[in-house]
Amino acid sequence: MAENKPEAVQRAYTSPQVNPYGRVDEEVVMVAEREDRRKKRVKCLIYVAAFAVFQTAIILLFALTVMKVRTPKFRVRSASFETFDVATVNTNPSFNIKMIAELGIKNPNFGRYKYQNSTIEFYYMKTKVGEAIIPRARSKARSTRKFNVTVDLSSVNVPRDELAATFAAGAVIPLSSQSRLRGKVELMKVMKKNKSTNMYCTMDINISSRQLVNLSCR
Ligand SMILES: *[C@@H]1O[C@H](CO)[C@@H](O)[C@H](O)[C@H]1NC(C)=O
Ligand SMILES: *[C@@H]1O[C@H](CO)[C@@H](O)[C@H](O)[C@H]1NC(C)=O
Ligand SMILES: *[C@@H]1O[C@H](CO)[C@@H](O)[C@H](O)[C@H]1NC(C)=O
Ligand SMILES: *[C@@H]1O[C@H](CO)[C@@H](O)[C@H](O)[C@H]1NC(C)=O
Ligand SMILES: *[C@@H]1O[C@H](CO)[C@@H](O)[C@H](O)[C@H]1NC(C)=O
Repeated sequence: MAENKPEAVQRAYTSPQVNPYGRVDEEVVMVAEREDRRKKRVKCLIYVAAFAVFQTAIILLFALTVMKVRTPKFRVRSASFETFDVATVNTNPSFNIKMIAELGIKNPNFGRYKYQNSTIEFYYMKTKVGEAIIPRARSKARSTRKFNVTVDLSSVNVPRDELAATFAAGAVIPLSSQSRLRGKVELMKVMKKNKSTNMYCTMDINISSRQLVNLSCR
């Protein structure tokens, strides 16, 4: 044990002289290191490129979804009735109905929709039979704002023979509703874009059941 130590020390001490390939080894190491650094640079470049592609994809996705301005959908959802005076007699047909219509503004955008005062009009054939005011308000992002309007539907301006023919055919009052909202979609609180939406719905009032049926909007 005592002899081993000096021998080991001596070997270690003389090893550079013993090994004539010391420089070659060093060169091999240097080449390997250069190769290593090159690989690292390439790897780094690949990462940067991948990140750029990733970021572009995210921005594109953002532009195509969040920042895209879509048209809100405005429609009649349902209705109930208060006054319900309908005379189907052939000689003097008429209707006088107070309708509470629930309207809906479906806002698909990632920002609120602020709209101005407007009106909704109800038609029997081509005759306007009632209208209501739509006060300005906001529809929250990605949600449907529902509200009621009260409409007095009256047949005073409807030609008598037209109404008599309808009542003879079936106990329903066919109606259509029209409206246009003007407003703006606000994205990220800074980007504002004007957006209008039109309503056109058709519906029937079933006289015997006093219900709104066949409601359809486009
Ligand atoms: C909207 O209607 C309200 C009352 O409902 C009125 O005070 C306001 O001036 C109207 N705004 C516009 C722009 O017509
Ligand atoms: C609208 O009125 C009906 C009753 O006529 C009610 O059931 C409904 O909840 C109302 N809708 C809104 C949004 O206030
Ligand atoms: C947006 O609408 C407002 C009125 O609501 C109008 O004054 C403005 O000029 C419109 N902007 C564009 C870009 O159409
Ligand atoms: C109207 O309602 C009554 C009672 O619910 C029903 O018998 C009738 O078929 C309805 N008519 C139409 C056209 O929907
Ligand atoms: C309206 O609804 C009734 C049932 O409620 C149906 O029998 C009738 O065909 C519908 N009419 C139209 C035009 O869709």
